[in-house]
Amino acid sequence: MRTYRLEEFGGIEELTVREMPISKPGRNQILVRVRATSLNRRDTMILNGTYPLTPRVGIVPLSDGGGEVVAVGGDVTRFAVGDRVTGSYFARWIDGRMHPGVVDQLGCTLDGMLSEYAMLDEQWAVRLPGHLSWQEAATFTCAGLTAWSALTGAEIPKPGQWVLVIGSGGVALFALQFAKLMGCRVAAVTSRAQKADRLRALGADVVIATAETPEWGIKLREATGGIDLVVETGGPASFAQSLIASALYGRIVLLTVHDQNGKSVEIPGAVYQRSLVTIGRLFVGSRSALEAMLAAVATHRLKPVIDKVFPFAEAREAYRHFQQGDVFGKVVIDGA
Ligand SMILES: NC(=O)c1ccc[n+]([C@@H]2O[C@H](COP(=O)([O-])OP(=O)(O)OC[C@H]3O[C@@H](n4cnc5c(N)ncnc54)[C@H](OP(=O)(O)O)[C@@H]3O)[C@@H](O)[C@H]2O)c1
Repeated sequence: MRTYRLEEFGGIEELTVREMPISKPGRNQILVRVRATSLNRRDTMILNGTYPLTPRVGIVPLSDGGGEVVAVGGDVTRFAVGDRVTGSYFARWIDGRMHPGVVDQLGCTLDGMLSEYAMLDEQWAVRLPGHLSWQEAATFTCAGLTAWSALTGAEIPKPGQWVLVIGSGGVALFALQFAKLMGCRVAAVTSRAQKADRLRALGADVVIATAETPEWGIKLREATGGIDLVVETGGPASFAQSLIASALYGRIVLLTVHDQNGKSVEIPGAVYQRSLVTIGRLFVGSRSALEAMLAAVATHRLKPVIDKVFPFAEAREAYRHFQQGDVFGKVVIDGA
């Protein structure tokens, strides 16, 4: 089988394809024929050697992928040959709170999905909804679950409340879609005005192009009466405006602390002094949250937004396209 590996870190040229034998599953393992994978911002950080969790040298990259079970070990009870599955981001985090014993991640410290076949412990996988194509099914593990956790992990926003999403990457668009499912109103900001119509078409009630309106926080507060929940994916570039946009008792789920130049989020004291906003953090989510999200996805036959699909042999081009930042939704790599 062909499998991509990262034997060094520092850039796209380190991504190498290898021919490897296909192993037989151990007692608790499932062998998955991977049909599609997708990229997240963390995958470019792992590639570039800037991810906070140190990746294993020689790792198979990517947390996100969908495929079918083609062989199972003797003690496997959760799956059978033919099941459609995806991996869980923190493979060992089943439920409850995150703790240091469950930090292993697919595509970082555990071999991930950018391979023709992936070997997973049966506990690391979940079943996929039937209405999704392989390309669609390969997009939920990281960005989808992060958006779901931001909306449902603590106090759940009520129908009619305002949710703010930043940009048009994977997390932001899933957050927009899930917030609409929950009956919320959605404000969206984008650095590229030409994406405004596509954000509206997905259900955004208010869209602001940040290049044209750099002080968008006050505009949004006036237009909405104050944002109830910000899914903060912009980090230092957007945090102060997100705080200004927020309602008195709003909440900000801060998903990005540093930008790619190492600049950190700063709390503007003069704004925060007049605010009762709660700033929360989260790391993607557990397997049980992934299962809950996929149940909602199945019920509502929700489809992810896909920006572009690349063939397996062009994984490096997929990384290049994703890294330049002008995307709308998920960048997918088709299985071979
Ligand atoms: N804490 C967690 O658990 C967690 C989990 C997942 C992701 N995250 C973080 O959340 C953020 C979003 O993740 P994602 O996977 O959705 O990212 P993404 O797909 O890379 O999001 C890209 C979007 O961000 C906007 N953007 C503006 N300037 C950019 C630039 N210079 N480079 C790249 N994008 C730029 C663009 O939207 P516009 O063109 O519309 O402005 C672009 O479409 C990342 O910082 C990621 O590290 C955190």
